[in-house]
Amino acid sequence: MTAAPPIPTPDFDLIRSVVRAGSGIVLEDGKGYLVQARLDALARRLGLGATAELVAELRRAGPRDQLRGQVVEAMTTNETSFFRDIHPFDALRTVVLPDLIARRAKEKALRIWCGAASTGQEPYTLALVLKEHFATQLAGWDVRLTATDLSAEVLDRARAGRFTQLEVNRGLPVGLLVKYFTRDGSEWVLADAVRRTVEYRPLNLVEAWPAMPPPDLVMMRNVLIYFDLPTKQKILAGVRRVMRPDGYLFLGGSETTMNIDPQFARQEVGRSVCYRQAAAATPPPKR
Ligand SMILES: C[S@@+](CC[C@H](N)C(=O)[O-])C[C@H]1O[C@@H](n2cnc3c(N)ncnc32)[C@H](O)[C@@H]1O
Repeated sequence: MTAAPPIPTPDFDLIRSVVRAGSGIVLEDGKGYLVQARLDALARRLGLGATAELVAELRRAGPRDQLRGQVVEAMTTNETSFFRDIHPFDALRTVVLPDLIARRAKEKALRIWCGAASTGQEPYTLALVLKEHFATQLAGWDVRLTATDLSAEVLDRARAGRFTQLEVNRGLPVGLLVKYFTRDGSEWVLADAVRRTVEYRPLNLVEAWPAMPPPDLVMMRNVLIYFDLPTKQKILAGVRRVMRPDGYLFLGGSETTMNIDPQFARQEVGRSVCYRQAAAATPPPKR
């Protein structure tokens, strides 16, 4: 079988500009095959004959047309897993969460924001860490775990808390699987008591952000990689504006604030790295 030809350049340019305007995601030259494959799948789902037909519809669509949003969503990469990269969660468990709990002991409130949460594995990992390791310390606290994403489709999947065998095989320790999930046919369903601790909301990082209680901890992992420098700068400045001055930010393993936002300071915690507003970046307490 021969691969489908890549999308024609004028069509690629149109998709590129729609995706950039709707999400900040930059589609580099050479992504023609990826765009073609994703749009083929979307065209089939929408009952359109071929990608060319979808592109023609898109040319006719107004700026608020639903199809633009569907094209943007189709071009997002939703790759994620439980305990992704493991070290950030070790850092959270051993240093960052104990430090935040000590800092917030008087107010007894903890706010966590997981931006770009995809299908929920990342916020649910955090919920499981809190439940497994901090349930006693946080008893009676007002703990809010808010998870957001641009894509309505991944948010629906995340809210459902249902995962395939393949998804639970990726990173979820078997002890947590048997303790917090039940099997339903070919899927694993997360216990309501954990599922309910995460609130999912739509939030597009390149649009105005809705008001949110200032987070103590921001997880913004594996999303900045898709943006250009000015967009990264704008989003990091937004994170600084909303987060508590002594809060913590975690980025993905290939992401950094270095040379992007000098007001964040890099801090190593065990085998992981987090970022703090420069003024707050005193070494974390030794434990
Ligand atoms: C690769 S996933 C990362 C998921 C998770 N944070 C992790 O590290 O495993 C990237 C997510 O970013 C979301 N995304 C892309 N552009 C976005 C934007 N402008 N605003 C909000 N979310 C966005 C995508 O929908 C996707 O779910």
